[in-house]
Order: sequence, then C-alpha cells, then structure tokens
Amino acid sequence: MAVGIFDSGLGGLTVYDAVRKAQPDLPIVYFGDNAHAPYGVRDADDIFNLTTSAVERLWEAGCDLVILACNTASAAALRKMQESWLPEDKRVLGVFVPLIEALTERQWGDNSPPREVAVKHVALFATPATVSSRAFQRELAFRAIGVDVEAQACGGVVDAIEEGDTILAEALVRSHVDALKRKMPSPEAAILGCTHYPWMEDTFQDALGKDVKVYSQASLVADSLGDYLERHPKMRGEGTENMFLTTGDPKKVSAHATQFLRRSVEFVSA
Ligand code: DGL
Repeated sequence: MAVGIFDSGLGGLTVYDAVRKAQPDLPIVYFGDNAHAPYGVRDADDIFNLTTSAVERLWEAGCDLVILACNTASAAALRKMQESWLPEDKRVLGVFVPLIEALTERQWGDNSPPREVAVKHVALFATPATVSSRAFQRELAFRAIGVDVEAQACGGVVDAIEEGDTILAEALVRSHVDALKRKMPSPEAAILGCTHYPWMEDTFQDALGKDVKVYSQASLVADSLGDYLERHPKMRGEGTENMFLTTGDPKKVSAHATQFLRRSVEFVSA
C-alpha cells in the first residue's frame, strides 16, 4: 500500500509533508535524486532518463503510483513517459494540473472548454527548464482565456536550498521577484512552480507584497492525490514501508531534510 513521491532533491518533501498530514497512515516511499539536482539546468533527454530510472526504483519498492513532485520533471518528461514508457499497471501523476485547476477555479478533472477566469495577470516562478518548456502556459491555455503569464526563471534557488543555504536562497528569491516586477509590475497571483520554493514562501510573499495571492502546490497536490486514491484504491501498490531514498550522501541529505521539515528524517541510499 505504498505511494511513491519523486523529486530531484528536497523540494518534493513539501508535497510529502502535505500528503503525510492528509493521510497519516499511507505508506510513502520518497525518492530524492540529490546526486543529480538541480534538474532545472538539464536538457529534456537528461531529465527523462534520470526521472525514469528513479521511478523504476520506486516500482521496485512496491509503489504502483508515483507522484512526480518535481515541476521540472513534470514539464520536461511526464508527457513522453505517459505516451511511450509507462507500463499499463502503473501510474505517474504530475504536479501542474492541480495547481492550474485551483487557479482557474475548476473542479478536479473538469475538461470543459477554456473560459474567462478572475485572475488576469499571473507571475510564474520556476526553474529554467520548466520556464523554457512552456508547459504551464500550455496547460493553462486548455482551461482559461485572457490570462497574461510572465515567467521568471529562478536560477540558483534550488542549488542554495539543496545546500541548506537559506540566506543565499532568500537573496536570490528577492532578486528574481524584482526582475519579475520589472516585466509585470502588478501581478494579481503568483505561482510557485517548483516544489523547492514553498520553503521560501514567506520571502516570496514578502517581496511580492500582501496583495498578491501566492499559489503553492503542496496542499493542492495532497488533496488531488486523496481524491485519486478514493477513485482508484488499487493504485496504492504493494509496499507497506515508509522510506526515504536518496542518490546523494544520506547523512547530508538527512541533515538538510531534518532542518526543513523540523523533525528527524532518515534517508538511506537508493
Ligand atoms: N523541485 C523541482 C521542481 O519542482 C526542482 C527542480 C530542480 O532540480 O532544478 O522543479
């Protein structure tokens, strides 16, 4: 009964944390590809190869359903995985759609034609690979019309978070928000389109100002996972153990994860 949660590193722990709170008894196997983070500066083939080998490791751990809690992998690899790689009895879900459904005021799985929505000016903060994929704009265009999106590639933020350097991460967030505001002075909403960024949510909110509604994915993804598992109870998989796997140095990754989650987390080698 285990579900897999994958990220290039520590960012997916924001999703893990929200899922854990919503479903305290669900066995979860977390996989952080910390040895290869950040993914946001890699090309699409590289991201596809790294993501599929991580997901295969999660199959081995008894997970039939894996959440790609990584926007970069969701943007660069998910479609190809679903079209040409995924075995029939397995599922991989991305993190974009729940967020866009919230932004466009839609119920889960509402596939009606695009329509006008309340927000007109949206700032997107994401990794360079997510921004250049334009996956967010594509998914949004299926659901909403007349929304102006300004995207800011936030180079360096993921590296700083992975290193546990929150002072550098904070300075970089402020400079990326400044750069965004030069292009779009008054966004109504801001999307944190990388699962690492919720660790810096207060800084984003402070730099953007209190009138900007900041959307972050963790709780939206947790809600949509709960909904999915209710409709597809068989996808809970065979695994029964909670585990934290990493391709990086387990000691260092455990220390940084413990710092961010504010409770002890023990990673082992993948
Ligand atoms: N948390 C990943 C995301 O949501 C970070 C990507 C990276 O490793 O650059 O995009």
